[in-house]
Parts: sequence; structure tokens; C-alpha cells
Amino acid sequence: MKSVRIGIIGMGNIGKHHAGYLLEGKVARCQLTAVCSTSPDKLADYAAKGVKIFGDAMELIRSKAVDAVIIATPHYQHTTLGIAAFEVGLHLMVEKPISAHKADAEKLIAAHRLNPKLAFGGMFQLRVEPRYEKIRALIRGGDLGEIVRVNWVNTDWFRGEAYYASSAWRATWKGEGGGVLLNQCLHNLDVLQWLLGMPARTRGFCQLGRFHQIEVEDNVTAYLEWANGATGVFVSSTGEAPGANRFEIVGTRGTLVLENGKLMFTRNAADMIEFSRTAKTGFSKPDATTGEVPFTNATVPHATLMQNFVNAILDGEKLIAPGVDGIHSVELANAMVFSSLTKETVELPMSSAAWEAKLNQLIAESKLEKKVMQVQASDFASSFRK
Ligand SMILES: NC(=O)c1ccc[n+]([C@@H]2O[C@H](COP(=O)([O-])OP(=O)(O)OC[C@H]3O[C@@H](n4cnc5c(N)ncnc54)[C@H](O)[C@@H]3O)[C@@H](O)[C@H]2O)c1
Repeated sequence: MKSVRIGIIGMGNIGKHHAGYLLEGKVARCQLTAVCSTSPDKLADYAAKGVKIFGDAMELIRSKAVDAVIIATPHYQHTTLGIAAFEVGLHLMVEKPISAHKADAEKLIAAHRLNPKLAFGGMFQLRVEPRYEKIRALIRGGDLGEIVRVNWVNTDWFRGEAYYASSAWRATWKGEGGGVLLNQCLHNLDVLQWLLGMPARTRGFCQLGRFHQIEVEDNVTAYLEWANGATGVFVSSTGEAPGANRFEIVGTRGTLVLENGKLMFTRNAADMIEFSRTAKTGFSKPDATTGEVPFTNATVPHATLMQNFVNAILDGEKLIAPGVDGIHSVELANAMVFSSLTKETVELPMSSAAWEAKLNQLIAESKLEKKVMQVQASDFASSFRK
């Protein structure tokens, strides 16, 4: 194969975005050959451009018109359609979250295990953003020493009622499986575990429908603890304006703060624990110097991740965001809500069956009557830079 034929299933906000940069030729050695949506009005433009159109995902999957698919549907279909794609030998790039809940993610991963030669990527485009790549390099290079504390106030995800009313699936247990954790800041949860590994436990405090007429969480504070004793707090909301995005990582040798588009690194002249043990004075602390770590934002991060996916198919290049990694962010999102509902700390890895049972109960007991309305188009792409 010299070029990968790509199909997109789900032509809403993000499906259209993927189609846009693919048709503009921003990803080499591939072409968009098919698109599918259950909303036929979203397809006419593509037919005019010579792209095959499908109203049914299984027809696209079985069509032999594609070598790989991007699944950009609502969350629950990621698992069923992803498994169907693997079964007919298609490479898969699945939108985040890889599944609506951890048990489904396990099923998708098991299906890939039966077809390990197929490339399986997760659309976690923050992994190609230079600011996070630089943080990762500093942590991995030992510049921070041992990590002791992490705080991420990640409330810059404001959404109005119109957003939730724009589709029936949004912000429902049945259609989405969760709220701000599983949808908006799932990228940040992926980054958190990509940088620092999975915590050992979490205690979540989630408010359901605090700011909106929805049944899922829209305001969250979660405590995290890692096996080495490092502690963390993750705060998120879709109801806070203007909201904040401050990411603070403290290690024994230095502190990183990412805020307002700047990454600042304060380097301790000595490891603080070592200093504490050996200093002869009780009030002094290690000398420190602060400097800015410059970065530029990625221009089309989704396209960069797709190029890596295409290279993985054609050349066996290592995936930057393997789909299997996607289970971790799903698990963090699930565990924070589960902990909040049970008012108990959740040890990780959590029981996927226990959360699935709770989720099914929430679905069965749901009394929400969702009102869907036509909303004005707005700058969807502005939501990418978190
Ligand atoms: N990576 C990112 O930056 C990013 C950004 C936004 C959304 N997303 C993710 O992408 C997915 C879609 O989000 P969205 O905002 O585009 O949603 P959306 O509601 O705008 O679009 C979903 C589309 O899928 C179609 N659809 C539903 N079921 C289908 C099926 N079985 N077959 C074919 N089409 C089907 C609907 O008709 C709709 O057009 C979600 O998982 C979301 O979390 C990712």
C-alpha cells in the first residue's frame, strides 16, 4: 500500500474538521475516500467532491472503499463500530474517549488484540502540542526530580445551555456516559496520565447539573494520589467564566507552571528533600532560578496525529497516542464520578464492572427530558487549545 484510503464515520463538529484538513492535503500519503453520517444533510458537499457517501456506518465499514476509519460519532458507538472495523481488517483512529466507559474500552482493546497488525490510534491531539511535549521531556529527563504534587485547575471549558441542547446525546448518561470529565477535559486527563502515569487512587467530588439543565457532572474537584506518595488536585467545570487553566507540577528539583500560554520552570539549585536533610539552618530553602520555556502551539494538531497514524500503517512508525492508552483517561473520568456517587475513595485500577452497573442504574433511573434545538454555528476550533 502506498496511500491510505480513509473513511470518516460521524460528520458532526469534529468529523467535519478531520475531513477539512484531509481534503486540503495536510496529511501526506492518504486520501479521504468515504464519509458517513446518520444526518444526510451533512453529506452532500462531500459527494460533490468525489468522496463516497454512506448513511449507514456498517455499509461504509464493509464497502472496501477504505483501509482505515476515523470514528467521530457519539461515545457509545466508538466501541461497537470500532470492533466492527477491526473485524473486517480496517485500521482505526477513534475519537476520544475511546469508549463511553471502561468496560467498553476493555472490549475494544480485546478486539484489537485479535488483530494486532492493525494500527489503532486514539485522537489525543494534545500529545503533539509542544507545551506538553516539553513538560514531558523535562519530567523524563529528571529535571524536576521526583514528582511530589500536581494541581490542574482546568475550568476553561465554559459551555452554555445551547451547547447541551445542540444534540440529543450530549450530557446524558445514556448518550454520552458522563459530562465534563468524559467529554471536554478528557484530553487533559490523558495528558495527566501520559506525563505522570496513572494515580493509585482518587476521591472525586462531582456536582451533577450544577450549572446547566443536564444530568451529568459539570463541576468537579478530584483528589489524586500516586504510588510514590505524590498528591494532586484536578478541578474542572463547564460553568465557570472566564475560567482558568493553570497546570502546576512540583518535583523535588523544580516546579513547572503552565498558565496563560506561558510555561515557566523554576529550578532548585539542590534537591529539596536532600537540602532539608542536610541544611544546618531551619528557615532557609534551596536557591532557585526561574525561566520561561518557550514553545509555539501546533498549527493543526489533529493532522499531525493523523500523519503519525498514516505513517504507522505504511511504515510501522510508533504511534504517539495508541488507542489502548485511551483506557486510562476513560478510567480516570469514570473513577472520579464513581467515587463521588459512592462517597468513597476509588483504588485504581478500578472495577470496570462496578462502574458499568452504576452507569446502567443511572441510565435506568434517568428522568431527564432532553430538549434539542437548532443552535447557531460558533467557533468550534477555538475549543482545541486547553
Ligand atoms: N479530538 C477533539 O478535538 C474532539 C473535538 C470534539 C469532539 N470530539 C469527539 O468526537 C466525537 C463526536 O463529537 P462531535 O462534537 O463531532 O459530535 P456531533 O454531535 O457534532 O456529531 C456527531 C455526528 O455523528 C453522527 N452519527 C451518530 N451516530 C452515527 C452512526 N452510527 N453512524 C454515522 N454517523 C453517526 C451524527 O449524525 C452527528 O453528525 C465525540 O466522541 C467527541 O468527544 C473530539
